[in-house]
Amino acid sequence: MARLDRDAIRECLAQSSAWQIHVADEVSSTNDAVLALLGEQVTEPVVLFAERQTAGRGRRGKAWFGGAPECNLLFSCAVPLGWPAPLWSRLTHVTALALKRAFEAFPQIQPRVKWPNDVYLGDKKVAGILVETEMRAEGKSVAVIGVGINVNVGHDEIPEPLRGLATSLRAETQTWIDREHLAGSILDALNEALKGLEGSFESMLDELRGSHYLLGRAVRAQRGEDSLEGMAIGLGPEGELMLETSEGKLMMLSSADEVRPLNPPGS
Ligand code: BTN
Repeated sequence: MARLDRDAIRECLAQSSAWQIHVADEVSSTNDAVLALLGEQVTEPVVLFAERQTAGRGRRGKAWFGGAPECNLLFSCAVPLGWPAPLWSRLTHVTALALKRAFEAFPQIQPRVKWPNDVYLGDKKVAGILVETEMRAEGKSVAVIGVGINVNVGHDEIPEPLRGLATSLRAETQTWIDREHLAGSILDALNEALKGLEGSFESMLDELRGSHYLLGRAVRAQRGEDSLEGMAIGLGPEGELMLETSEGKLMMLSSADEVRPLNPPGS
C-alpha cells in the first residue's frame, strides 16, 4: 500500500483531461476541503483526494466509512457550475455513469447504478456520490462532487453493520486494484461525462437505463415524512425515478431521501 501520488494519477490521465489534482493525508471532508483550495473564480476543474477523512459524510448527514488510509478512494471534484440551474441535478447522474464506465474496465464485474447516487456490484454498494453546490456571485458558483469508493478494503475489514450491504472492487474482482490508475480513468470518464451534460444527456441516460439496479423491483421511496411504494419502471427525461403504484398511477421522483427494494435481494 502506498499514499496516492499526484503525478502518477496525472500520468494516467488522457491529454484532454484538464484536472488540477491535489492529494492530502487527512481532511475533515474532501467536499469541504476542496472548496478551501479554490480561488474566487473557478476556471478549471479541481480534484482533491484524501487518504483519511475525520468527518466524511454521505447523503442525509450519514457518516461515510472510508476504510484505512491508502486503501480506498475518497475525493471531491470542484467544477464551475456553467450550466443552467435546471440541469444541475444531472451532475449526480453523469457522475454515476462515469463511475460505472470506469468500473467496467474490470471484466469480472457488472456495475449498476442504484438511483440516484450509488454504484452497486451485485446487491452491494461499492461507491456513493454526494453532490453539493456552493452558491457564489453570478457565474461563479461551484459544484462539489464527492465520491467514496471501496477499492481495496477487504470484505472482513468492512464494519459489521455495513458488511451485508457493502462490498469493494477488490472483494468482487479478487485482485488488488491500482488506485492511481483507477483514479485516472474515473477523472477521464467524469471529464467526458461533464462535457456531455448538456448536449449528450439523453444518450447517457439511455446507458444508465441499461444498468438501472432498481428496474423491475418493487421499491419504497422515503421523502421526508412521506413514503411511496411502487414498481421501478424506468428513468424519466431528467433522470427521474419512474414508479408505478399498485393503482397504476405513474410517479416521477426527482429526489428522495432513501429508496429501498421492498423485497430483500434473492427473495
Ligand atoms: C452516499 O452514499 O451517501 C454518498 C457518500 C459520499 C462519500 C464521499 S467520500 C468523499 C466525499 N467527502 C465526503 O465527506 N463525502 C464524499
